[in-house]
Amino acid sequence: MGEAGAAVSGHGLIPEEIRQRAREIVAKLSLPEKAALTVGKDSWTTVANESVGLPSIWLADGPTGIRKAPDSAGMGIGDSIPATCFPTASAIGSSWDVDLAHEIGVAMGIEAQALGVQIVLGPGVNLKRSPLGGRNFEYLSEDPVLSGELAMATIEGIQSQGVGTSIKHFVANEQETGRMYTDSIVDERTLRENSLRAFEIAVKAAKPWTVMCAYNLLNGTYCAENRRLLHDILHDEWGYEGIVMSDWGAVNDRPAGIEAGLHLQMPHGKTVEGVVSAVERGDLGEERLDVVVTELVQIVLLADSLRRPDTPADFDAHHDLARRAAAGGAVLLKNDGNLLPLAVEPGQTVALIGAFAREPRYQGAGSSQVVPTRVDTMLESLPGAFGRDVNVQFADGYGPDGAHDANLLAGARELAASAAVAVVAIGLPASMETEGRDREHIHLPAGHNELVDAVLAVQPNTVVVLINGSAVTMPWAEQVPAILEGWLGGQAGGSALADILTGAVNPSGKLAETFPVRIEDTPSHLSFPTSGDGTARFTEGVFSGHRWYDARRVAPRFPFGHGLSYTSFTYDGIAIDASDFAEYDALRVDVAVENTGDVAGMDVVQLYIGECSPRVQRPVRELKAFRKVDLQPGDVEIVQFMLGWRDFAFYDAAAGQWVMDSGEYEIAVGASSADIRVSAREHLESSHTAPLTVSVNTPFRVALDHPVMGPMLQPVVKGMREYAPSDEAAEMMMLFMGDMPLRKFTQMGIFTDEQLTGMVAAANAG
Ligand code: BGC
Repeated sequence: MGEAGAAVSGHGLIPEEIRQRAREIVAKLSLPEKAALTVGKDSWTTVANESVGLPSIWLADGPTGIRKAPDSAGMGIGDSIPATCFPTASAIGSSWDVDLAHEIGVAMGIEAQALGVQIVLGPGVNLKRSPLGGRNFEYLSEDPVLSGELAMATIEGIQSQGVGTSIKHFVANEQETGRMYTDSIVDERTLRENSLRAFEIAVKAAKPWTVMCAYNLLNGTYCAENRRLLHDILHDEWGYEGIVMSDWGAVNDRPAGIEAGLHLQMPHGKTVEGVVSAVERGDLGEERLDVVVTELVQIVLLADSLRRPDTPADFDAHHDLARRAAAGGAVLLKNDGNLLPLAVEPGQTVALIGAFAREPRYQGAGSSQVVPTRVDTMLESLPGAFGRDVNVQFADGYGPDGAHDANLLAGARELAASAAVAVVAIGLPASMETEGRDREHIHLPAGHNELVDAVLAVQPNTVVVLINGSAVTMPWAEQVPAILEGWLGGQAGGSALADILTGAVNPSGKLAETFPVRIEDTPSHLSFPTSGDGTARFTEGVFSGHRWYDARRVAPRFPFGHGLSYTSFTYDGIAIDASDFAEYDALRVDVAVENTGDVAGMDVVQLYIGECSPRVQRPVRELKAFRKVDLQPGDVEIVQFMLGWRDFAFYDAAAGQWVMDSGEYEIAVGASSADIRVSAREHLESSHTAPLTVSVNTPFRVALDHPVMGPMLQPVVKGMREYAPSDEAAEMMMLFMGDMPLRKFTQMGIFTDEQLTGMVAAANAG
């Protein structure tokens, strides 16, 4: 729900005795000792100071599972200590399930404790600005509310185990191309409503111990040295009490970072002396260093006080959870003729085709890459999942990296022709999805598309299972009867897909990102990944994700929020109680949801809001709340949403604040952004309107509406009427003069400068 009257006071993250101890410790430290604490000891740990009893803590990636390097000096990519590889954020995002995200967080917290990790580097809430984003698999969604809420649940889950998190990458790091030096140019409103919004939701509600600042510049200043971002917004406006650490290697000017509010540089770097001399020269105040070091010491002490090295981790149970989660995030995109779940009889053959079924991709490449405790494949899992004597035959279908292979293709075709049904596992090879590189296009490998066409030519009962971390084009989408998006589903992704194919689990995932027909249709197409001059201009403004497709009436392949089920749901009636809105800035929405099918299932009820006649350009509707419900056949649940004024607000950059105008709003509830089932309009009187100010630059017409300035300007209106030869001419004059900034009236001799500034001052004084 919206943060009605969200307080900006302290969060209560740090207990008083820890604050006290941190102050005492910092008071005993010399300048070089304090400076030393602000830079990591090595790749993964912080600097200890035994003389004052300050320990070191261990940080590890995140966000797909725990990636703890065998020793703190190495990077540990590919040789980290085995841990559960949960589904990637692309799948968790599509689960729309905050309880599931919380549960995974708890499991990750337990494993972190067991492995001796005090802070997990995740979750990642950068928005999927383009399907080309190389790291989209590591991010939750294209939408700030969905990302923020799921991140909040994850953080709460991990931190409930006494382990910290590092929500990342702060901020506007929505691409891989030039990620270390590109300047993200984002106008204030877009920044507040999109990139910052996901962080704002999670930071305010879940209090992550740390925030990881991004590599890139934001509007001309590196995030690592951006005081407005790290101090003014994060600390002052949001009341954040934790610490900011740099992304690995994101620091450029360490003293400037300390001034800005960057507590910890990671990993180790030779910057300590620079901090000491900046203080000695008087370029950096020692009081500022003391504040930053005290806040840093607080988090180290908090983490240390909650260490539980003997925590047992039940990796079998976590594998089961990973399986449930992968199934919860898989999205049934299409299911013509109810081809799924597979209704094969004992003795019939299922053709399982595609090397991914034998050797699955289950996570993306880069810093998030976990060494799993084990891996389930579809090939091993599918035969047993039927619970009856079904004959599952396998063919590879394509070569390494999706390459065309005539023999493999012929084998696949032959197998498909002889079977009752074909299940084709295709997707993106690892080389096409990795941290550090954006995708060049959004197509599947040619060998995969060719395989689908070949199988479809001989087998009408074809199911395509997609294994990928971000949207792809599907040239065969109209012809293939059933499509299941399995994402990069973690170490149990293979068994989870078998559960869905056989009907043991009813799919309930919904797209957390729009699937376009073609890349040219996407919101950031003309400015992603860069505008060619070292900048990434967020030219789509607030019309990102589904809002773009709605506003421009561009039909995507599959819309945001879309996902089918083996049962059906109806939405009956929408009741809005806004009677207390004026008093509490809150209103209630009730919707009855019924499972009208034959099997139990989960549905995601999505609530969107649009302002009917906005004075600024606003999206047709925006996601503001959602709820995943679990219903038995015939069950009805009244789903209740509480909305606050912020859910109706936009960021008024001129006023420098969130503003909700009074007026009519549409509250729409549906099964996807393009499938609104019930809606209602409500007139709401807001007590959070923009402050009424005038200046010498205010247009005459606008100033006339001001309660104090308006009456003062009436003589001008009267004079115009008298001067004009006819009513028509008066109207013309008003049309012309209405646009004039008030200062022009001094040039025209209507007021003197002094008179006008006096009137403006009187108006603004109320
Ligand atoms: C990534 C971070 C990661 C860090 C440590 C960086 O390159 O951007 O997400 O946490 O490395 O591995």
